[in-house]
Amino acid sequence: MHLRLDKYLADMGIGTRTQVKQYIRKNQVLVNGLPPEGPQQKVTESDAIFFQGTPISYQKYKYYLFHKPKGCVSAATDNLHKTVLDYFPEPARKGLFPVGRLDIDTEGLLLITNDGALAHNLLSPAKHVPKTYYAEVAGTVTEEDQLQFAQGLAIGEEKQSLPAKLEILPPKSPEISRIYLTITEGKFHQVKRMFQAVGKQVLYLKRVSMGSLTLDGSLSPGEYRELTEKELQNLQE
Ligand code: URA
Repeated sequence: MHLRLDKYLADMGIGTRTQVKQYIRKNQVLVNGLPPEGPQQKVTESDAIFFQGTPISYQKYKYYLFHKPKGCVSAATDNLHKTVLDYFPEPARKGLFPVGRLDIDTEGLLLITNDGALAHNLLSPAKHVPKTYYAEVAGTVTEEDQLQFAQGLAIGEEKQSLPAKLEILPPKSPEISRIYLTITEGKFHQVKRMFQAVGKQVLYLKRVSMGSLTLDGSLSPGEYRELTEKELQNLQE
């Protein structure tokens, strides 16, 4: 890596190129303990770069665990709706995209990154990365449903859905069941269509895990945090 100081700082989400140039001019940036020659100065990852006293190490890829709320779409841009990226401030947002899709009314875990290779691996149909959902379903989910989910269901695709693990939780009320469902593929509206296939309707849906990554209980809908080193390592394995 060998790039201009202003680009380095902008890539790390410090601000836009214009803002970053101002910070440099106002002596808020130090390179190896010294004021830089200017925004054009070339830097590498071995340089110690400080912004307002904080070290800014170069991280090519960003990984965020996002708790998607209802009412936003899992796309980078959309003319009609709020997107998941609208929750990320402007300079940090650059290049980010959501890994996979959740419906507009689905909540829960969404990985947001700029690492295309990791996204590709996690989404590859051949990898069968398990995804677990919590759902509230109208009516009573039964052991018979459990059996059918375990065998695979016809959901209007060429092939049956792959076997899925349905765990029945104590009901929310006499009319509403609560379940966990783990699937290893990601067809459009898959969970809702699987329940439709057994004559039931999903009322509420939330993704709680994807591969080794689980939704952080401390994150409210609309909040995000960076993945820990350990989470990232586990995900990459
Ligand atoms: N299955 C669905 O039906 N919707 C989602 O958002 C995710 C999985």
